[in-house]
Amino acid sequence: MNKVAVYAGSFDPVSNGHINIIERSTKLFDKVIIGVLENFSKSYWFSKEERIDMILGSLSPEVLSKVVIIAFDGLLVDFLHIHKSAVLIRGLRAVSDYEYEMQMHLTNQTLAHNEIETVFLPSVRENLYLSSSLIKEIAKFSGDISSFVPKYVEDKITAWVAEREK
Ligand code: PNS
Repeated sequence: MNKVAVYAGSFDPVSNGHINIIERSTKLFDKVIIGVLENFSKSYWFSKEERIDMILGSLSPEVLSKVVIIAFDGLLVDFLHIHKSAVLIRGLRAVSDYEYEMQMHLTNQTLAHNEIETVFLPSVRENLYLSSSLIKEIAKFSGDISSFVPKYVEDKITAWVAEREK
């Protein structure tokens, strides 16, 4: 039986933390569906096409052969249902993530009538306090983000900031 899992997020932009979770997920599952949230009430730095492109540009061919990247809007449980997955992957960083992640896990489980399981993958040491909003904050002030994002993403962010400053 094919084991399919979903890893969803805003990925605005994708960080080394996300990439690490994707790589490790592909070792645990046959296929990982990366759901890129397009929430129209949220404002993103990057369009869904750009966010997808940055994920594509950051993964090795081996990892890419096991992932599918799909933009979605609406409830995550519906996205899982449509794609016939019963597993949701979440990266867990510091203790501060715990409250939000438990709330999300329990809500999703209720919405899906216990048909969904959340698998938490603990962060590796280097990415423990990494977040996309922190990366954007540093980039906005032309700080060095090379330790936090893949080179492909760094170049896209740098170009985005330069364009904005014109
Ligand atoms: O990048 P993030 O903030 O970690 O991603 C959060 C995401 C996309 C997983 C969450 O916002 C989400 O599931 N959104 C879809 C709407 C939904 O299902 N909300 C109820 C979740 S309890």
